[in-house]
Amino acid sequence: MNLNEFKSSNVIVTGAAGFIGSHLSEKLLDLGANVIGIDCLTPYYDIHKKKNNLGNLINKKSFVYLNYDLSNREFRIPTEHIDFIFHLAGQPGVRLSWGSDFSLYSKNNIEATQNLLEYSMTLKGLKKIIYASSSSIYGNIEIDKIDENSLPKPFSPYGVSKLAGENLVYAYFKNFKLPANSARFFTVYGPRQRPDMAFQRLIEAGIYNQKFILYGDGRQQRDFTYVEDIIEGVLRLALVQNIGEVVNIGGGHVVSMNEVIKTVEEILNKELLVERSETQKGDVIRTSADVSKLEKITGYIPQTSLRQGLIKQVEFTTNYMSKHEYY
Ligand code: NAD
Ligand code: UGA
Repeated sequence: MNLNEFKSSNVIVTGAAGFIGSHLSEKLLDLGANVIGIDCLTPYYDIHKKKNNLGNLINKKSFVYLNYDLSNREFRIPTEHIDFIFHLAGQPGVRLSWGSDFSLYSKNNIEATQNLLEYSMTLKGLKKIIYASSSSIYGNIEIDKIDENSLPKPFSPYGVSKLAGENLVYAYFKNFKLPANSARFFTVYGPRQRPDMAFQRLIEAGIYNQKFILYGDGRQQRDFTYVEDIIEGVLRLALVQNIGEVVNIGGGHVVSMNEVIKTVEEILNKELLVERSETQKGDVIRTSADVSKLEKITGYIPQTSLRQGLIKQVEFTTNYMSKHEYY
């Protein structure tokens, strides 16, 4: 499959200032696309980091940044000629989705998605819209690898909100033939990972000789996925027909947090200070993706080994922390 098809195409990336959206925008610019990056810089984590993510993009002449809140019905895009939309804007984070904060999940994951889908319907030449869904829609799994036909049983309000977004995408596809796919990402890591996520906290704790708080006994497992593998997967998915399909993108590294801690210790060549805390509500015991559909449809399966990916995240973090006041 030839990603050069993105050359000179007009692409919207929502959530462009975020972790995954900034990588995707960079890659699309490298491929010669014109990118409109939309992000309202929500304060879920330090917005200096989001501004730094954008900093790598806004000096490129094919990039336009729009600070729009997608849940606002009034948002307007200055062109009607859009080829692709990658919808990555959203309220992430499993463990904080309880209580009154759920309104943020509802607003940014459900209302914003429905609003963007309505806008997408007004576009004449749209080839594909890809929705960033999540492994969290599956909940606790009882089989070796979960495939896309399994019944979703989200275990957290976050998972419920991501599944609602996915169901909206499906409803617009079914009723209006909107050319859409949902891609279910499995715990994504790599340079610029969100600061609330385990690897970033672990690496920073290691570099600063601070405590890492481990939730539970460390035996919980995740199918960790390197960010470049996610990007390759979604770009390929945008170029194939298969509209309406839902596809897992998992990294194939189903490892426990205890194993991750050991690997980070080896990379940093030091023992980490780990303090245990109770298992968090909404956290599943294990995720594990069957990626055979991704391979069948796009010819791609993730390539990066956990050690290779972690080394890149450690290098990035060390370098970033030496240059920025805010981290
Ligand atoms: P992120 O928080 O770094 O990026 C999301 C961006 O969306 C943020 O910059 C935020 O400001 C923006 N945003 C939120 N609500 C918005 C709104 N209403 N209008 C405009 N912008 C808005 O998160 P991320 O880790 O890069 O995740 C990107 C997407 O992928 C999310 O939808 C998330 O649910 C999904 N996802 C992430 C992972 C992961 O492991 N990181 C796994 C599965 C799914
Ligand atoms: C991640 C993302 O944060 C979600 O936005 C995403 O939707 C989800 O992946 C997904 O795959 O769908 P999670 O798997 O919880 O969620 O990823 P991490 O935040 O990196 O946590 C991984 C494990 O480390 C969890 O068991 C968590 O409890 C643990 N952890 C996390 C700690 O022990 N300590 C921490 O400080 C943070």
